[in-house]
Amino acid sequence: MKDKIRFAMLGCGRIAAAHFKALSENGDRCEVTAVCDSDIERAKEASAATGARAYSSYDEMLKDGGFDAVIITTPSGLHPEQGIKAAKAGCHVVTEKPMGLSLESVDELIHTCDRENKHLFVVKQNRLCQSMQLLKHAIDLNRFGRIYFSQVNVFWTRPQDYYDAAKWRGTWEFDGGAFMNQASHYIDLMYWLVGEVDYVEAITGTLARKIETEDTGAAILRFRNGAIGSINVTMLAYNKNFEGSVTILGEKGSVKIGGKSLNNVEHWEFADYNDDDKIIIDSNYNLLNQNISQHGAYYKNVLDVLEGKSKEPVTDGRSGRKAMELILAINKSAREGSKIPLPLEK
Ligand SMILES: NC(=O)c1ccc[n+]([C@@H]2O[C@H](COP(=O)([O-])OP(=O)(O)OC[C@H]3O[C@@H](n4cnc5c(N)ncnc54)[C@H](O)[C@@H]3O)[C@@H](O)[C@H]2O)c1
Repeated sequence: MKDKIRFAMLGCGRIAAAHFKALSENGDRCEVTAVCDSDIERAKEASAATGARAYSSYDEMLKDGGFDAVIITTPSGLHPEQGIKAAKAGCHVVTEKPMGLSLESVDELIHTCDRENKHLFVVKQNRLCQSMQLLKHAIDLNRFGRIYFSQVNVFWTRPQDYYDAAKWRGTWEFDGGAFMNQASHYIDLMYWLVGEVDYVEAITGTLARKIETEDTGAAILRFRNGAIGSINVTMLAYNKNFEGSVTILGEKGSVKIGGKSLNNVEHWEFADYNDDDKIIIDSNYNLLNQNISQHGAYYKNVLDVLEGKSKEPVTDGRSGRKAMELILAINKSAREGSKIPLPLEK
């Protein structure tokens, strides 16, 4: 039997649970051999659940080795330096989004992985949910004709308690704000679906939470293909998350996907029929019934690449950098009150 791919986990907090579940869904192909958290109790809990060795020191975990890749699920501002260490220690890198908070640091991560001949995966599991795969397929088949307009709305609730629960949340140094942290998947989807952005203008504000970064904002974009885009984000929706949506309007089609996890097809209409339309109708406009978690689907691709069965990561470092650069441009526009062209100058 072929050896399993061995992973080490760095950071055993909230999202680490989704990774452990995803890894166990792919348990015939991979295992977790080491876990590390600066809070040793969290590392011990993860160790008890997985049987992996527990560490509170990342350097010690790297020194002992015994894994092929490091999964980074620590506060966002730490991802680049921790990824660089992993690559230099001879490991592939799987980093949670956002991959970092400055272009300089993520470029160093990308170039270090290139030099060390290691893969760099940025976790963008939402690209793999069925609604987004069908939407991307419709775009690739040119079913929309020219795309005129696209919008993402992220109307969620993050109470003050959420920010107070971990010191890094809501800081510029480690979190990056509502666009960078909570909305980054949706912004990544917009780039992935519609393409390169020419320029952006934005207004953001810290309207209610006691945090450094913004809790609310709106951005308008001009894409290189001429389309116009709008990104609307707040963490202040009353009482509960109520919308996370992607809308694409084109010459020959209109689609809006919403629901809590992009599962609800609110509108799906094209001039010409395609068999994909039947999948939407048969699902009763709700695509939630998948037998694997989104992180689980993401790891299938990671494993395919590490086993040499696929050359194409769902999101590599360069692709992950795009959404980050766009969000940095949004922040810069809001700060300076001006239109910001892309690519950003470093
Ligand atoms: N893909 C997604 O949908 C998704 C969802 C939630 C969070 N995330 C991302 O995952 C990352 C972590 O978020 P979270 O909500 O799990 O945060 P968290 O605060 O719950 O967990 C972070 C963990 O990292 C540990 N840590 C901090 N510094 C460390 C260090 N130097 N060495 C080792 N461990 C360290 C903390 O003790 C904590 O246990 C963030 O980048 C976030 O943006 C992604």
